[in-house]
Amino acid sequence: MNLTLKIWRQKDANDKGQMVDYKVTDISEHMSFLEMMDVLNEQLINTGEEPVAFDHDCREGICGMCSMYINGEAHGPDRGVTTCQLHMRMFKDGDTITIEPFRASAFPVIKDLVVDRTSFERIQQAGGFISVNTSGNTQDGNAIPIPKKDADDAMDAATCIGCGACVATCKNSSAMLFVGAKVSQYALLPQGRVEATDRVQNMVAQMDLEGFGNCTNTGACEIECPKGISLENIARMNSEFMKANLKG
Ligand code: SF4
Ligand code: FES
Repeated sequence: MNLTLKIWRQKDANDKGQMVDYKVTDISEHMSFLEMMDVLNEQLINTGEEPVAFDHDCREGICGMCSMYINGEAHGPDRGVTTCQLHMRMFKDGDTITIEPFRASAFPVIKDLVVDRTSFERIQQAGGFISVNTSGNTQDGNAIPIPKKDADDAMDAATCIGCGACVATCKNSSAMLFVGAKVSQYALLPQGRVEATDRVQNMVAQMDLEGFGNCTNTGACEIECPKGISLENIARMNSEFMKANLKG
């Protein structure tokens, strides 16, 4: 495949940035999107140009680093995949592909396609943990009966990889799908109930402090989420938040 790429180039956080056109040739449909980007970068290095900076780590849909907005969609046109799992067979010979960073004021661009998502880390630090007795007298987790549905829902919520596609997709740059998943992951299990009140209040407060917008129920986040995190998690977070506030 021969392709035209329109890529956001931005030298640093203070640069205005602009779209720049590139051509790549002989791209195999079996390549992943990031392998195609590697081909472009080798080409740029060979001609003495600055390669395109983009985030990646695991390249298998686990780490949540590969945040690209491709042809107007977070993680591109496929469903249930991250950018690193997107295959070039989703495109046709002669296509023009537009590639931008995830855009949200709480995710400032650092360089080219790399954004700063430490706002997510600060939300996690505000409450995404449980206290564990490490004295040696810990109760075996299997000794605590948990309804199958609760365990399944908690595990589903825990599959959120913190990629930020929900924020990039949302017209309000809302992080509620992410925070809803993180709150639900603990709220559904007895081990997570100990700090449940503080957790939801602190995580929501940090989310607001970071400048993420509110949820207006468009549901775009659920559609673009590579892990299929359900909107039910937002409803659960709202109910946890109301319960916590009633407790005072
Ligand atoms: S909820 Fe989905 S889209 Fe949002 S951060 Fe988690 S995995 Fe990514
Ligand atoms: S590089 Fe880890 S999820 Fe894409």
